[in-house]
Amino acid sequence: MFGLSGRALESVSFTAPPTWACGFDVRLGPDRARWYPRRLLFGADSFMDYQVHDSAIVDEGAQIGSGSRIWHFVHVCGGARVGRNVSMGQNVFVGNKVTIGDDCKIQNNVSIYDNVHLEDGVFCGPSMVFTNVYNPRSFIQRKDEYRDTLIRTGATLGANCTIVCGVTVGAHAFVGAGAVVNKDVPAYALVVGVPGRQIGWMSEFGAQLDLPLDGEGRAVCPHTGAVYVLRGKALTKEAG
Ligand SMILES: CC(C)(COP(=O)(O)OP(=O)(O)OC[C@H]1O[C@@H](n2cnc3c(N)ncnc32)[C@H](O)[C@@H]1OP(=O)(O)O)[C@@H](O)C(=O)NCCC(=O)NCCS
Repeated sequence: MFGLSGRALESVSFTAPPTWACGFDVRLGPDRARWYPRRLLFGADSFMDYQVHDSAIVDEGAQIGSGSRIWHFVHVCGGARVGRNVSMGQNVFVGNKVTIGDDCKIQNNVSIYDNVHLEDGVFCGPSMVFTNVYNPRSFIQRKDEYRDTLIRTGATLGANCTIVCGVTVGAHAFVGAGAVVNKDVPAYALVVGVPGRQIGWMSEFGAQLDLPLDGEGRAVCPHTGAVYVLRGKALTKEAG
């Protein structure tokens, strides 16, 4: 186990605290928190460096990419595969059969259960909920019935939303705060409500695009100038 038993490693002061998406700075001095660099060898000459807060537990076998930061009271199980520059806020849980891509931001109180897979750049808002059993019963064992959930590159899952297992959330889709998603979400779709319904399209920047849900059209993101093309019920971003 690397977690608490890894304390013999050199402690580091945290000189550049990150700004969290919820709008407050986390100011941790060396007196308030201790961070431990982890350096794991994979293969002949491949190292992964990441930081783990003193209170977090990372089980032996977990793979965590360089530059990742694991905050207070996090538990990462031994089978987890976590990419580079991932941040995990307070009280995050990561199961064994979980993969997390590079540059994901996982806010406080999110549990990522077995069979949940996040591609690169996924944002999980605070206290959002994943599931892995579709029809759980306490008296009935359903460990062989976990359904896969896939969150594609760049998608945002808003605060306090719930993702019912078995769905795929498309690349750069945006799930609004508090939504309950129980079917697949197309790339770039904006989904809100209970049950989640598509009400529009979001650019990669995170701005709504002036397009119908279905039909033909083009829209420009006012923030980046990127062009989006609607064909039927599918939106794509133009190259270039
Ligand atoms: C979706 C969101 C980005 C707003 O996008 P927007 O383009 O500004 O959309 P608008 O506010 O114009 O809303 C469009 C419609 O959707 C509704 N709506 C927006 N967000 C909603 C939500 N989360 N749930 C239900 N309805 C919502 C609005 O009430 C509005 O309805 P109306 O047309 O009947 O008035 C924002 O509401 C949201 O959910 N953000 C997520 C915040 C979050 O979780 N952050 C986590 C990090 S702290």
